Amino acid sequence: MCGIVGYLGNKQACDLLIDALKRLEYRGYDSAGIAMWNNGAIETARRKGKVDDLRKAVSSGGFEGTMGLAHTRWATHGIPSERNAHPHTAGDITVVHNGIIENYIEIKERLRKDGHEFLSDTDTEVIPHLVTRYVEEGRSFVDAARAALKELKGSYAVGIIRKKERTLVAAKKESPLIVGVGDDEYFIASDAPAILDRTNRFIFLEDNDVVIFTEGSLVITDMEGNPVKRVVSTVAWTGAMAEKGGYKHFMLKEIFEQPRAIADTLIGRVMEEEGQVEFEDLSPPDLTKVRKIWMVACGTSYHACMIGKHMIEANLRIPVEADIASEFRYRNPILNKEDMLVLVSQSGETADTIAAMKEGKKRGVYTLGVCNVVGSTLARECDGVVFTHAGPEIGVASTKAFTTQISVLYMLMLYMGGKLHKMDRDRIKENIREMRKMPHKVQAILNISKSIEEIAGNFHKTKDFLYLGRGINYPAVQEGALKLKEISYIHAEAYAAGEMKHGPIALIDENLPVVVVSPNDSTYQKTCANIEEVLARRGKVLLFTDHESHEMASRVESVFTLPSTTYELQPLLSVIPLQLLAYYIANLLGTDVDQPRNLAKSVTVE
Ligand code: G6P
Repeated sequence: MCGIVGYLGNKQACDLLIDALKRLEYRGYDSAGIAMWNNGAIETARRKGKVDDLRKAVSSGGFEGTMGLAHTRWATHGIPSERNAHPHTAGDITVVHNGIIENYIEIKERLRKDGHEFLSDTDTEVIPHLVTRYVEEGRSFVDAARAALKELKGSYAVGIIRKKERTLVAAKKESPLIVGVGDDEYFIASDAPAILDRTNRFIFLEDNDVVIFTEGSLVITDMEGNPVKRVVSTVAWTGAMAEKGGYKHFMLKEIFEQPRAIADTLIGRVMEEEGQVEFEDLSPPDLTKVRKIWMVACGTSYHACMIGKHMIEANLRIPVEADIASEFRYRNPILNKEDMLVLVSQSGETADTIAAMKEGKKRGVYTLGVCNVVGSTLARECDGVVFTHAGPEIGVASTKAFTTQISVLYMLMLYMGGKLHKMDRDRIKENIREMRKMPHKVQAILNISKSIEEIAGNFHKTKDFLYLGRGINYPAVQEGALKLKEISYIHAEAYAAGEMKHGPIALIDENLPVVVVSPNDSTYQKTCANIEEVLARRGKVLLFTDHESHEMASRVESVFTLPSTTYELQPLLSVIPLQLLAYYIANLLGTDVDQPRNLAKSVTVE
């Protein structure tokens, strides 16, 4: 995720800003840059790669000054490269930005017609161009900045400076940005750890706040220029605590980031009014020719593929085969030129998934990557790519990458449904409407995470778990069982509920907790019958359902009530308490949650 820092004060700022960027490295990034203001001149340096490379670049001198901006970039629009790295400049305006500008293509086209030239592939670059335009029209720098920000749809945290004046403008909307207050000096940062060694006094900005820093003063206004009051809070955080945003582990932070990550993944792609889904820069083959879709991946991403299969087969009636990447190419799959091969990967570097992509290309099929890392091998080499906007995932056990993958596959279903005339506009509209509720519904589950923590307290000493689900929730319980195995080292096995009687039923006794996901859908009664079978053998059922008056509530060990949604979106909700259950059990056992034994975040060997 991108990181911003800025400074206006009485100290030389270059080293100070680069030190602050170093402390944001944990967020993940692919390039870095700095802009130093020095009496009417702005000196900029940008480097692909590490902050240390940037430090080398500025060490030759010329980066004096007591006001500046710096940035680490996590690519979302345009590959990681020097020209896409921030800061971006147009005219005498220089900007650093976090977030996603939803309407950047529209703004870019408009500005191009007026003669503006763009030098990068980023969404960010429209901001300095817009500010410059308003300054040229005669507005003050601060007014021009506010006017530009008002035009932006999407999310942003920005720092903006201008050659001609010693003023720093910062603003935020749905992207984090804080102000650090020192003695006669001010900082901006996307996260407290960047500046905790300099101050522990912070202003936590709210959406649509615009902060104007000048010599020795700070003014906060709304977008219209009306002053707003924000308190300065003193915090008692350590650096490590702050990196994790106060959460004990990155995994827990990432679980709680899911509402934001899902919302970011939808931004600019779902048009509810039009009943349409569009993916930027995606030019797929003639979809009318697609007879079969393959979805191939490893680990958690494979579970997302299984969910994608259910969605697309149910709605588009196109056969989908979900396959494990390490199996796919060795079984000589019957690939036809008209087939479409969808490769799903958080990292975009998983060796088996890359090999599956190569196999597909060799056989002449269209390859579509669903990936979280811009510039990764998969993103570069697939014929088409759709990015999940989860931001960097640091915990080895995948959480927010999974729910954003499901979100992309859902959008892919709607996109193809529209293009192939298999879903009419009203149906797509309805589906989009429900999808847009997902961040709130996920948040509603997270708000009652305490109840999962209590369940975990009763079961963390258990040696084995069984997970049951049907239909689209079968992969969701597989993912739940995988989470538990990965981070708690407890053996957990997932079964399609109807298969229980063909084997695992032999394991059931009073020591076996059975996690059952059973939404109130067409298979609800069938799953109830399976629960009866477990209860009859004194098994302990942990039930996750949206059925309000579940007749077995008094007989099962616990009931967690899920928000209701459509069949296709159920796993997006049902997996959240399962992630939490795994996390809280592992936490009670004291395992290394973020880096579990024997596991790697990115498996680049076969
Ligand atoms: C590793 C990780 C898993 C991940 C899998 C696939 O096993 O520990 O969390 O699901 O690789 O990774 P990918 O980056 O391709 O999604």
